[in-house]
Amino acid sequence: MKHLVAPSILSANFAYLGDAIKMMNESEADWIHVDVMDGRYVPNITIGPPVISSIRPLTKKIFDVHLMIVEPEKFIDEFQKAGADILSIHLEASPHLHRSIQAIKESGMKAGVAINPHTNVNQLEDILPEIDVVCMMSVNPGWGGQKFIPGTLNRIRKLKALIKSTNSKALIEVDGGVSVDNAHSILKAGADVLVAGNSVFKSKNPLQTISSLKHLDVNTIYA
Ligand code: DX5
Ligand code: ZN
Repeated sequence: MKHLVAPSILSANFAYLGDAIKMMNESEADWIHVDVMDGRYVPNITIGPPVISSIRPLTKKIFDVHLMIVEPEKFIDEFQKAGADILSIHLEASPHLHRSIQAIKESGMKAGVAINPHTNVNQLEDILPEIDVVCMMSVNPGWGGQKFIPGTLNRIRKLKALIKSTNSKALIEVDGGVSVDNAHSILKAGADVLVAGNSVFKSKNPLQTISSLKHLDVNTIYA
């Protein structure tokens, strides 16, 4: 499968969010990544369902919503109504992960599990056959613009093997510090989806950056 690109609107200028969505409509972006933070699970507050429902009519692209909130199970229906297509919740914030994943799927969305950099990927083993996406954090969640944690590459390889051995169809989404410079090694390690915030929205030409991320070829050897 050709990899997917999911620009994160967290790095867009919120005063011109509509323009950012229009730019993505013209781009080769596959998904639009939306970071929801509550100031409790992570030390930052971002946006929630009202913003998602305001931008929903502006695009047909898939809304990939990443919840960095405590008790995410309480908000599943609200995010579905706001227009989320994929809903990822953190393993570390979900004592009844299996139940929450079933609820996400029953509401008609694809289900994702996000894991922090310290969480052993083996903890996903029993839930992998049930989910569509693993959002693997390659920074500690909370802000855009952080540095990619190099140990993530090994974690992606481990997760890829686990996905295979459990016959799971889950995609590996890598989230945090992804750029045109490191995306090739991330893909080579086994990633299926690249989330990119700062590297897209702070670049001179976001359209071109999305295209560069999309056109990377895992089989090409870059100098
Ligand atoms: C971090 C968020 C990321 C973030 C990525 O907590 O989950 O999705 O927006 O932004 P960059 O690509 O700038 O690290
Ligand atoms: Zn995210």
